[in-house]
Amino acid sequence: MLSRRQALTVSAAGLVGGALGRDSLAAAGIMDGGWSPGRIPFGACVRIDPLQKEPDYRTAFKTYCQQLTPEGGLFWIYLRPTPAAFRFDFADGVLAFAAANGMTMRGHTLVWYGAMPEWTKGIEGAANAEREMTAHIEQVVSRYRDKIKTWHVVNEPIDDSKGNVPGLRPSVWLHSLGDRYIDLAFRTAHRVDPAAELILNEYDIECADGTSPKKREALRQLIHNLLDRGVPLHGVGLQGHIRGKYQIDRDGVFDFVAEMRSLGLSVHVTELDVVDNDLPGPIAVRDAIVAARAHDFLEPIFAAARPEIIATWGITDRYTWVPMWYKRRDGLPNRPLPLDADYRPKPLWSVIDYFCNK
Ligand code: G3I
Repeated sequence: MLSRRQALTVSAAGLVGGALGRDSLAAAGIMDGGWSPGRIPFGACVRIDPLQKEPDYRTAFKTYCQQLTPEGGLFWIYLRPTPAAFRFDFADGVLAFAAANGMTMRGHTLVWYGAMPEWTKGIEGAANAEREMTAHIEQVVSRYRDKIKTWHVVNEPIDDSKGNVPGLRPSVWLHSLGDRYIDLAFRTAHRVDPAAELILNEYDIECADGTSPKKREALRQLIHNLLDRGVPLHGVGLQGHIRGKYQIDRDGVFDFVAEMRSLGLSVHVTELDVVDNDLPGPIAVRDAIVAARAHDFLEPIFAAARPEIIATWGITDRYTWVPMWYKRRDGLPNRPLPLDADYRPKPLWSVIDYFCNK
């Protein structure tokens, strides 16, 4: 059940979202990568194929975004096809597009359990693991020094694979180096680019049910431990792949963000979308719930701290990871993102725009 305030926000968002045209976007200062002073930047992740092939896709980023994240171009599986090779074409392409259009790019990600090439399964022993990880971070961070100012250094470290959040997530790094792999990643990135803002990025900390409450607590403890050990951690990334079927734990989000800020960390919304596979089918209803969930997530964040960025994981429903994992049983396309598959802004965009202007 939506509160009156949420219902008002969402219905206003629906009106604005449906009617939003170039003129009103221009008047709001958000056309052509435009950004007005005081506005929180909006970003989104980018796929390389449509970026190269689809003019409308490029226009969407130029119209709405101030910052881009390469969706997969900095994954090891893409960047490191063999132990010796570094393949920078994807990330370089996104960076060139961003720079040509007045946008910046953030780095995603240096150390993650996922999207690892087969050959990394052969990394055995602490010395080899340390050598591989540090060499990777040295190559990648030094290449983009002065260009990428913010790095998601470690991505998704908390283990929820069995649903009970017992500790750190298994990976080649945890296996070979133990929990000091996180310290090593941050210390190496900091050594290579002392000016870069270094982020720990995690998902599923915002819901009132599921694994969120335990993950939030595990992430909190991990962050305290890292800071106690003097690890150069500067900010926390709340991915925000919101599970649409759950309510947001607004108090839990507020308390967590307030605590992060009290520890001196910056706060980033890094991969916002709303997983809608369990939501009702009718588009108006679904879009309203998606917008309401994002509103309920962003409101306590903003009440506790001003985030550095709101970034979504994709910009259009045409290109989203969500159906890879969360296809709808009724066969309808997923609608997790701010623009629909025909690049029309949805109520979710109006919610994001509202918060960016706060
Ligand atoms: O490019 C190939 C294409 O040629 C092929 O036809 C197709 C067949 O399945 O696969 C395509 O590659 C896929 C790629 O996404 C396309 O963007 C890969 O198989 C698929 O594994 C890859 O998934 C990515 C996933 O991370 C990897 O685990 C998603 O794009 C990407 O959005 C997702 O992103 C993660 C963040 O990094 C961390 N947070 C969660 C988020 C969503 O899972």
